[in-house]
Amino acid sequence: SRRVTVRDIAAAKADGERWPMLTAYDAMTASVFDQAGIPVILVGDTMGACHLGYDSTVPVTLEEILVLSAAVVRGTSRALIVGDLPFGTYQAGPEQALRSATRLVKEAGVGAVKLEGGERSARQIAMMVSAGIPVMGHLGLTPQSVNAFGGNLVQGRGETAARRLLQDARAVQDAGAFAVVLEAVPERLATEITAALDVPTVGIGAGPDCDAQVLVWTDAMGLTPGRLPRFVKKYSALRDTLDEAARTFADEVVTGAFPAAEHAYR
Ligand code: KIV
Ligand code: NA
Repeated sequence: SRRVTVRDIAAAKADGERWPMLTAYDAMTASVFDQAGIPVILVGDTMGACHLGYDSTVPVTLEEILVLSAAVVRGTSRALIVGDLPFGTYQAGPEQALRSATRLVKEAGVGAVKLEGGERSARQIAMMVSAGIPVMGHLGLTPQSVNAFGGNLVQGRGETAARRLLQDARAVQDAGAFAVVLEAVPERLATEITAALDVPTVGIGAGPDCDAQVLVWTDAMGLTPGRLPRFVKKYSALRDTLDEAARTFADEVVTGAFPAAEHAYR
C-alpha cells in the first residue's frame, strides 16, 4: 500500500474528516504508530528534549533531524513523514530553506517539511513549494523563538495579536503550505482560522475545531516526566510501565530469579 500524500490531506479537509498526527524520533516507535493507522508522523525538533536531552528545540541540528528522520522513514510504510526544519536552517532566507529541505527529502526520504513562522517565513515556503517540496507551516507558540517570547506562552490573545495570527495563517496558505500547525492558541481564534483557510489546521492546544490534532508522542504516552501543559492528554503511562519493569528486572537479576531454565541454552 502507498504512503499518505498531501493530496489525501487536501481531500480530508474537503470531506470534513479529522485526522491525527503524532511525533516520532525512531524507527520502532514510528512503526507502532504507522501500523496503528496514524496517517501523518512528524519528526519534530521536540526531539531536542525528548530524545537528545537538550533544554529546548533551539540546539537541534539539521544533522540530528536527518538521522532520526531517516530512521522514522525506514520504520514506516504508510504514513506521510514530515521532517522539522531546525532553528537556524531556514531563517536566513529562501535559498537556505531550500538547501535544508532538499537534504531532508533526498537524504532522509521525508515526504514534507515543517518550519515555524507566518509572513516572516512566506518566501521560504514559496521557494520550497516551487521546488516540489510539500511544506507544513507552524504558528502561534513557535518554540524556536522561546528566547524572544520569554517563555512558552499562549499566543494570539487580544484583538491585535489575533488579527496578526489570522494574517500569518493566510500568508502561509498563500505561500503554498499544505497544512498549518496552530500551537497554544485560544480556541475561538483557532476555530476562526480553521474556517478561514482552505488548508487544514493541525491543533496542539488550539481546541477541538482544528481539522487535525497533534501531540508529542512522549507526552501523549506518558513517558515525559513532570508536569505537562494543559493541552496534553495522557493515553498511556509508559513511564510507570518502564519504571516498574526495570525494577522487576533488577530485582530478578539480584535474586537469581532471572534467567530461569527456559531462558538458558542447554
Ligand atoms: O517539534 C514538534 O514536535 C512540533 C509539534 C509540537 C507540532 O513542532
Ligand atoms: Na517543532
